[in-house]
Amino acid sequence: MNKIIFIASFYLLAAYACQPSSTDPKEKEMHRYVDRLMRKMTLEEKIGQMTQLVVGFDITGPVLNEGVEEKIKSGAAGSVLGIYTPEATRKLQEMAVNDSRLKIPLLFGYDVIHGHRTIFPINLGLSASWDMTLIEQTAQAAADEAAADGLHWTFSPMVDIARDPRWGRVSEGAGEDPYLGSRIAEAMVRGYEQDDLSRNNTILSCIKHFALYGAAEAGRDYNTVDMSDVRMYNEYLPPYKAGAEAGAASFMTSFNEINGVPATGNRWLLTDLLRKEWEYKGFVVTDYASIPEMVNHGSGNEQEVTAMAINAGVDMDMVSEAISRYGTELVKSGKVAKKTIDMACRRVLEAKYKLGLFEDPFRYCVSEKEKHQRTFTLRYQLLAREAAIKSVVLLKNDNQVLPLNAEAKIAFIGPQAKRAHDLIGSWSAAGLRDEAISLWEAATKRYEKNNYLYALGCNLLEDTGLIDKLNRFGSKIQQSEKTPQALIQEAVAVARKSDIVVAAMGEAFSMSGEAASRSSIELPENQKELLKALKQTGKPIVLVLMNGRPLALSWEDENMDAILETWFAGTAGSQGIADVLFGGANPSGKLTMTYPRNIGQVPIYYNHKNTGRPIREEEKYTSKYLDTPNDPLYPFGYGLSYTSFQYSDLQLSADCLAPGQTLSVSVTLENTGKREGTETIQLYLHDKTASITRPVKELKGFQQARLASGESKTIRFDITEEDLKFYNSDLQWVAEPGEFDLFVGGNSRDLLQASFKYSAK
Ligand code: BGC
Repeated sequence: MNKIIFIASFYLLAAYACQPSSTDPKEKEMHRYVDRLMRKMTLEEKIGQMTQLVVGFDITGPVLNEGVEEKIKSGAAGSVLGIYTPEATRKLQEMAVNDSRLKIPLLFGYDVIHGHRTIFPINLGLSASWDMTLIEQTAQAAADEAAADGLHWTFSPMVDIARDPRWGRVSEGAGEDPYLGSRIAEAMVRGYEQDDLSRNNTILSCIKHFALYGAAEAGRDYNTVDMSDVRMYNEYLPPYKAGAEAGAASFMTSFNEINGVPATGNRWLLTDLLRKEWEYKGFVVTDYASIPEMVNHGSGNEQEVTAMAINAGVDMDMVSEAISRYGTELVKSGKVAKKTIDMACRRVLEAKYKLGLFEDPFRYCVSEKEKHQRTFTLRYQLLAREAAIKSVVLLKNDNQVLPLNAEAKIAFIGPQAKRAHDLIGSWSAAGLRDEAISLWEAATKRYEKNNYLYALGCNLLEDTGLIDKLNRFGSKIQQSEKTPQALIQEAVAVARKSDIVVAAMGEAFSMSGEAASRSSIELPENQKELLKALKQTGKPIVLVLMNGRPLALSWEDENMDAILETWFAGTAGSQGIADVLFGGANPSGKLTMTYPRNIGQVPIYYNHKNTGRPIREEEKYTSKYLDTPNDPLYPFGYGLSYTSFQYSDLQLSADCLAPGQTLSVSVTLENTGKREGTETIQLYLHDKTASITRPVKELKGFQQARLASGESKTIRFDITEEDLKFYNSDLQWVAEPGEFDLFVGGNSRDLLQASFKYSAK
């Protein structure tokens, strides 16, 4: 008898432990609803909620993978990835809510990464705007369009800190800095979710790829990550944590291993850190087939790695159906507790509840008319143009060759001058490549002039092996019938007839993004040959770059007159670039990843540590290269304007800071140039002595100011103890007494400096 009571109370306790307690009446109502539903569910149906199936399109509608329809009807799928449009999602939703036993609606997910139908610049470009309002607005627009297209959930933002430009996925993130990356993560989550998932123009966001995916060894995608705890906590984890705290509805695991345990099966990561330490309440989906991929990692057979993933804290299995295949057996054999499945299922159902899908499973299946009113609107196209303008970074502008004089004879030369195919970048969701126009078209339409000349000059690439690889994934790279020499001769002749050359060069969109690592980050050799020939003409050259990662541009920096980094600038990219080139807009973008001089310097990032032997050129045994300087070509935070800014009079309100106090920092910023412009003022700190060594500087604040020519403004920042904190070797978040350097300026290199003391009393 006692035994029975004991067992019964054990199960009651276990069941209670799975039910989150809440005081919020809305949440209580949700818990009651989900409880009631779950009481009716079989183990198989719960496992169904943990399963996401992938579906593709054909011309007449969605093509279902083998057995998908049956699986939906039998309650064996909780979510679908890979389709959109109200018609296509409605068709599958009808199967779920009409034919499945419990009529649980499906969740439709898609990669809406930098826009849905209106495509904004790639995320690395957007981050260069340093404009959180703009970034939030782009996410909000993407959510609106995606929701009007039947979607509930985006796999964005990607917040992986990236210090290695060989890694193709640097294009999808916010660059190398944890502080800026955190602010951008928050802005994107706000944009997608608007703190209210019950609205029909908001969607679930997903913080990915958890964790440390950007630290893949040698920049090779999916590669091993091995990292100390202090580095992880201080440098790589902050943006994920910021995303969780901003209320992101879901997290995605990463493909990589972390210190010997693949992220998807990593209980420390998904439970101890995410659930216990960060108290994260949303649900966790795997990245694609990362459960069975753990077999390749060497973590066990398929059944073992499935148990590992569920026990680690995975709630939904993207695509692989491993949980669906082994889940029941694992519960029966006791390798996975029933309550673990319950908890996962509950989290997925809660997300559906928050979206209002139980009230109306078709609420995102809007009418054609409404979809039209919310999609690719003039407002969104203008936002895309603004985003393109604010993303471009002016890297060089000798003798103020830019902005261009529209009356001049301008030669547009290069493989990216008339090619619009790459502009919307990788992960272009429902964006249409044909809708973006080329730079040539944007420039000639703008002034309806015939004083502009054109020559191809060279193919985008000559390496046919690489072209084949890229074209297999939609790059449409074509080779001219003319020989490379003939193309160059033609271009040189055109350049000679012109006053100035605009050379549009770069990568194909598929040379960055997933599975697109490069071992060389220079412009392709044939493009450089063209630039060298153009240089011989003596004409001023403006290099316009379209690419998805930092490139090594040492030669270009020495030989070009101006360089404009435009990334893949999106739907309205060319119009935005033309605005900047012709001076309709003044560039204000600043790099969020360091540009190395050459690949040998990689990984290179501004917030590095000092060594015991800092560089001294004249001394042999100091930390340096024999053949290249230590410093980068263009530092983090760098970017020029058509006007100039001067910083002066850096002042601190005191020379000492104590807990509970605020140190006020002020600096005078003056627009010393001839036109209005926007500057991003950056504040960095350096903790000079601490229990663990600290970076030479770390971004701790930034603001933007728009100043008219000749205008001055006092810029203020407040520093508190919180800004001095870091994770010590016991992973405690502490501020330690001592001296701090404080820097303010327009990039991470050219800074005014002051110092103060922090004392605990
Ligand atoms: C990528 C994710 C993406 C997922 C779904 C994976 O290959 O790593 O970033 O969200 O596919 O498309």
